[in-house]
Amino acid sequence: MKKLNVLLLGWGKMGNVEGKAILSLRSELERAKRDLNLVVVDRSEERLDDARHFANSCFPDHTHALAAMRATGAPPEIVVMALNDVDHFPVFKGILETTPSVKAVFSEKPLTATQAEAENLYPLLHEKFVTLNTIINFSPVFDVLQQSLPHNMALTRFDCFWRKDRTKDTRPSTGIITDIIHPLGVVSDMFKQGAITLLGGLGFQGYLSDGAKDVVYEIDTHWMTAKNIPVILQASYAYPKQQREVIAHYKNAAGETCIADLQFDVARTTDHLVFSHYASNGKQLSQTTYTSKPEDVQTGYAGMIGDRVSAFIGWSLRSYLDREDQLAAHKTSNLESSRILQNIIEQIRKPNAPLIIRQSPALTLLTSRQG
Ligand SMILES: NC(=O)c1ccc[n+]([C@@H]2O[C@H](COP(=O)([O-])OP(=O)(O)OC[C@H]3O[C@@H](n4cnc5c(N)ncnc54)[C@H](O)[C@@H]3O)[C@@H](O)[C@H]2O)c1
Repeated sequence: MKKLNVLLLGWGKMGNVEGKAILSLRSELERAKRDLNLVVVDRSEERLDDARHFANSCFPDHTHALAAMRATGAPPEIVVMALNDVDHFPVFKGILETTPSVKAVFSEKPLTATQAEAENLYPLLHEKFVTLNTIINFSPVFDVLQQSLPHNMALTRFDCFWRKDRTKDTRPSTGIITDIIHPLGVVSDMFKQGAITLLGGLGFQGYLSDGAKDVVYEIDTHWMTAKNIPVILQASYAYPKQQREVIAHYKNAAGETCIADLQFDVARTTDHLVFSHYASNGKQLSQTTYTSKPEDVQTGYAGMIGDRVSAFIGWSLRSYLDREDQLAAHKTSNLESSRILQNIIEQIRKPNAPLIIRQSPALTLLTSRQG
């Protein structure tokens, strides 16, 4: 049986779930005549100790992992990136420049911390099979919305709210820029709006948790999609409640309107779609609420249900091994759409960005916003 050598970078919050999702597919892979060899890298001794219960071998850094994999005639074919954002670029570069055996890259979002780094990597990634974990795309609410929407409705506006309290979270962070990829990715990928341009807004910069460097942690912004649909986006890492919501507004020629209120992670693995239809005089014609169940999350493999990280891994593996799965390419984000997303989020910190950034000397949760 041919070996499938997978190098998983990071056994943190995302990496350990991804690793376990890969392992849960071992028997599926065996049916496809591939013998899984999972190698894990993490610089934390404690995390490596945990990873040792699952992986074939573990290393504290990628250079030692690569050397050992080469020495045993098992160089990596798939690299899964789950390090913190700032580590993506140097580690990708170190691996891709020296390891021609790599055929596929499955990466946590964003691909790199900055657009310049991403541009530097594209020539190396161009020939590879690349998927980016814009995890929200795996929500079943999108399929339900397709079934609910009358065919003659046209989009008129998006309102996006993406907020949570990260002030006590000590994981390294590049700030709100890493989170806005989700709502803007939904608008760009799932509503097929392509590029999105920042028109203006206000942002706040400060430190998130003790010892962390200053980042933009809150923005209130206006955007326009390539298809001329306006987008309002409010995002914060200093909000007392978690809110992950994209509201799509529609209208038809007769003046009827529809509102699709997509709410993500309402409970642990639950998403909602509240779909409302109004007559031209404003009278509500109908309202339906769909609540997702774990078994509604498609993973590309039977027997893997219930979480979107598994869905990302399942679809990525299956579409890499099958190579022709269009649906998977759409859901996992290929290199081209990850490039569009990187360009979209980068606008927040472009030198002449139409976004005014105010410095906040000390970040405190505003109690007035609680409730
Ligand atoms: N798709 C999503 O919804 C989603 C959600 C959370 C995080 N993420 C992304 O996932 C990635 C990982 O985030 P996380 O929350 O799992 O972080 P984490 O801090 O929990 O895990 C990162 C792990 O990488 C290890 N590490 C970091 N740099 C290393 C290096 N150079 N060499 C070896 N080990 C190293 C750390 O020890 C840690 O265990 C980030 O890019 C983040 O933006 C995506």
